Amino acid sequence: MQIHDARFICSAVTPEQYPPADLPEVAFAGRSNVGKSSLINKLLNRKNLVRTSKTPGCTQLLNFFEVNGRWRFVDFPGYGYAKVPGDVKRRWRPMVEAYLSGRKTLRGLVLLLDARRLPSPEDLAFWSWLRERRVRVVAVATKVDKLSRNDRARQVRTIATRLACAPASLLLFSAASGEGRDKLWAVLEGLLGERKTEDLGRICGEDSR
Ligand code: GTP
Ligand code: MG
Repeated sequence: MQIHDARFICSAVTPEQYPPADLPEVAFAGRSNVGKSSLINKLLNRKNLVRTSKTPGCTQLLNFFEVNGRWRFVDFPGYGYAKVPGDVKRRWRPMVEAYLSGRKTLRGLVLLLDARRLPSPEDLAFWSWLRERRVRVVAVATKVDKLSRNDRARQVRTIATRLACAPASLLLFSAASGEGRDKLWAVLEGLLGERKTEDLGRICGEDSR
C-alpha cells in the first residue's frame, strides 16, 4: 500500500468530539504496550506520526488519523496495565463502548495480542464482547521478531485456541521488521471496501455472520 498522506486529525473521548462520520474507519485495540501505536506507524510508513513509548499507558484518548484522504484509523488507549492511572482506567470502558456501539463508519477492529504471551483475561473478555456485538475483528500477534520460529508456531496455536479461532486467521506482525505489513494491509483493504472480499478469510467469525 502506497501512503501519500497520513495525518493526525484529533483526540476524542465522547462522540461529539469525533471527526465527522464520512470516511470508512478501522480501530486498533489491545492491552497497554502491546504495540498498537507502533503497528499504525509501520502501516503508514511513518516513524513518529503516532506517539509510542516503553511506558504503558502512553495513549489515553481515542486518536483519529486520516490516511490518503480516504480512510480513518483510530488508535485506542490500551487496557489491562496495573500502572495506568485510575481515571484513565475508569474512562476506558465507556469511551470504547460508546465508540464501538455507535460509530456508523466503523468497518472493523484490529485486536493486537502480544505473540509471546497468553491472551489475558481482559483480552478474552474484550474479544467476547466484540464477537457478541458482531464487530469484525482481525486478530494480530505482535512483536513476533522476539520469538524463534518454533516458539512462534507454538504460540500461534495456543493463542488461536484461546480465542477459539483458526490458527491461520491469526496474523503475525512485527513493527520492528515490517513482517506482516502487506498481509495486514490486504485484510484492511477488504474491510475498507478497497478490494473484493477474498481476504476477509482472516476475519475471525466471518463465516458465522
Ligand atoms: P499504549 O499506548 O501504552 O497502550 O501502548 P501501545 O500498544 O501503543 O504500544 P507502543 O506502540 O507504544 O509500543 C510499546 C513498546 O513496544 C515500545 O517500546 C515499542 O518500541 C515496542 N514495540 C512495539 N511493537 C514492537 C515490535 O513489533 N517488535 C519489537 N521488538 N518491539 C515493539
Ligand atoms: Mg499507544
